[in-house]
Amino acid sequence: MKTKLLTSSQEDIIQAGRLLREGKLVGIPTETVYGLAANAFDADAVAAIFKAKGRPADNPLIVHISRLEQLDGLVKEIPEAAVQLAAAYWPGPLTMIMPAADIIPRIVTAGLDTVAIRLPSHETARRIIDAAGVPLAAPSANTSGKPSPTQAVHVIHDMNGRIAAVVDGGECRFGVESTVITLCSDPPMLLRPGAVTPDMLRAVIGEIAVNHAVLERMNEGETAASPGMKYKHYAPDTDIRLVTGDFEAYAAYCKANMLPGDWAMCFSGEGKRLEQEHGLAVKYIEYGQEDDLLSQAKGLFAALRRLDAEGAKRAYVRCCRPEGVGLAVYNRLVRAAGFNIVG
Ligand code: TXA
Ligand code: MG
Repeated sequence: MKTKLLTSSQEDIIQAGRLLREGKLVGIPTETVYGLAANAFDADAVAAIFKAKGRPADNPLIVHISRLEQLDGLVKEIPEAAVQLAAAYWPGPLTMIMPAADIIPRIVTAGLDTVAIRLPSHETARRIIDAAGVPLAAPSANTSGKPSPTQAVHVIHDMNGRIAAVVDGGECRFGVESTVITLCSDPPMLLRPGAVTPDMLRAVIGEIAVNHAVLERMNEGETAASPGMKYKHYAPDTDIRLVTGDFEAYAAYCKANMLPGDWAMCFSGEGKRLEQEHGLAVKYIEYGQEDDLLSQAKGLFAALRRLDAEGAKRAYVRCCRPEGVGLAVYNRLVRAAGFNIVG
């Protein structure tokens, strides 16, 4: 199969919609990361997603809609908290878990009786959903376990020859996946941090719980509230060491521990400073500005992917501040590092 590269022209969007209705897989841009989409009502098409990604069958998918009215048919009930959160943050980078209607094939929910729903803000994503005329089940469009794709070339890199098409919608605005909250627990529980921060959720619905796996490694034998949290995730082939502390502490740690061939992954301008201020002339990749958490989110996955492209064996990564959107960046980094946190 040759993977077609489509644009966001009306003609191409119609073609993407037709491919999806035929049961094919299409890579689609969203404001978070690229998704690997299929008709959510077509169990065979959804099975093909798991195959193309090499995704474990017990990890459920998010169902994407283009308008709020579509929510009704997909869930058994709409909790009051969902109405409030949708009014505040949809369309946008927020996924809500609710009781699944019977119409949702259980392969989508990995056998659970809950379903994750998201209404993306990316215009091209919504036009593709409209053109398909059905909700789209879509995980991130990476090979399972690898960093998510934030550009169409990343999707081509992982999925070329395995899917019918990719729609190029440019670089994703946020760069980390949506916030996932389940409304099937009391209080609602944050399962995955994203650009809609815990404070933003609390401002609308009051008390929320934060699943401990957001920041910590899961315990041996523990049942995952969100199955996606139990796998090593977002990880390049490069061995990642996450270095905590400020720039001076990072530089000192790198100086004491780096071996020839190791890479630094740090914030904008810091690669030069390692050399000029600390005499450490190493290869480096930068991901965002130190004082701008959104820029770190946006640059994170492309930077991790570049480490692999460069063939880097090991990288010492400057840790972000785990607050606000930085909590999402931290959550991805600790998994990319397999919880190898040093410094
Ligand atoms: O931003 C995003 O959410 C992107 C774009 C494409 O929309 N999608 C995405 O999908 O990140 P994925 O499959 O990579 O991550 C979905 C996460 C997984 O951790 C999965 O376990 C969790 O959501 N999830 C989905 N349905 C669930 C459910 N019913 N109960 C608990 N967790 C669920
Ligand atoms: Mg994913």
